Amino acid sequence: MTKYNGKNRTIDCEPTLNDSQVLEFCKNGYLILENVVPNEINKKTIDYLNGKTPSNPEYIPDGLSEKDLDSIRHSNEPSTLILEKWFRENVIMNPILCGALRSLLGANFGIPVLISAHSVECPAAAQPWHHDADSVFGPELNYLENFYYPQDTPIEMGPTEILPGSHISHTTLDYKDSGTLAAVPAGSFVIHHQSIFHRRGKSTGKGKRHMLKYNYWRTSEPVSDWLEEPGFNPETADFGGHNVGRYYAHMFYWLSGKGDQYRIIGGQAWPWSIKNQIGPSYGFGSSKGYKPDWRKNNPDGYTD
Ligand SMILES: [Fe+2]
Repeated sequence: MTKYNGKNRTIDCEPTLNDSQVLEFCKNGYLILENVVPNEINKKTIDYLNGKTPSNPEYIPDGLSEKDLDSIRHSNEPSTLILEKWFRENVIMNPILCGALRSLLGANFGIPVLISAHSVECPAAAQPWHHDADSVFGPELNYLENFYYPQDTPIEMGPTEILPGSHISHTTLDYKDSGTLAAVPAGSFVIHHQSIFHRRGKSTGKGKRHMLKYNYWRTSEPVSDWLEEPGFNPETADFGGHNVGRYYAHMFYWLSGKGDQYRIIGGQAWPWSIKNQIGPSYGFGSSKGYKPDWRKNNPDGYTD
C-alpha cells in the first residue's frame, strides 16, 4: 500500500528491491521499469502536455496564483502536473516505481517539486553526452532522478542513451561511443543516479516525443531496510572491477548506514575479487585503511 502524506508531501510504502538489486543499482546507476503506468494515464498525460486535458489542481500552493499555475503549465517545466490528482496517484505514486524508490531512498521520501518536459520533434540529431548540471560525485544517495515515457519510445524515437556505471566520476567529454539505449514501451520509468553520463539518442522516426524528468528526495537516514536476501554476503559479493568496485561498494555501504566505517586496503583486497580465487579476498571488515578518493577527476567530489 502506497501512502501519501499531503502535509509533508512524502510517500511511504514497502520496499521491493533486495540486497543484490540494490547493489546492481549502485553498480549500474540506473533501473528500468517497463510498461507500469496504465495506458489511459499515459494518454491523459500526453493530452495534458498538448494542452487538451483541462487543469484541475488539488490545491493552489502558497504564494502562487491561478495565473502563475497557468504560466507554469505552459512552460517547458509543467510542474502543475504534480498538483493533478490523477497524475499524482498514477504516475508520481506508481506502486512499482515507489517500491524501488523506497528501497533506495528510505522511508517517507519526498515527491518532486519540479517537472521538466523533454519534448522533441523527431527526427533529431543526438545530444552531446553530458552529466546534468550540478551533478555531485560521492557515496551518498540523497535523491534520484526519474524519466517517465508516456508513449512508446523505440530506438527510432531517440530514447535516452546511458553509460552504465558512469555516475561515480566525471567522464571525458570527448566520449563518442554508444551506451545503453533506454528504448521502452509507453508507461515506463528509467530511475537513475542524477550524475550518470547520458544524452538523448538520435531519432529517425517522425512526430513529437515526450519525456518527463523529475526528482524524488530522501528525508531519512540510510539504514539498509530494503528486502533482506537470504545468502547475500557482502564479503563475497561482486562489487565491480578494478578502480570502480571500491566506489560502488562505498555507495552500498553508505546506503546500509555504514558509510563511515567503510575502509579499503587496496590491491587485490576486498571489495575486489575474481572467480578463480580459492578463498574470500583479504581486507573485508578492516577498521584501518582508506576511503576511496572521490575527488580524483571530480573537483566537486565528496570529502568528509
Ligand atoms: Fe541531461
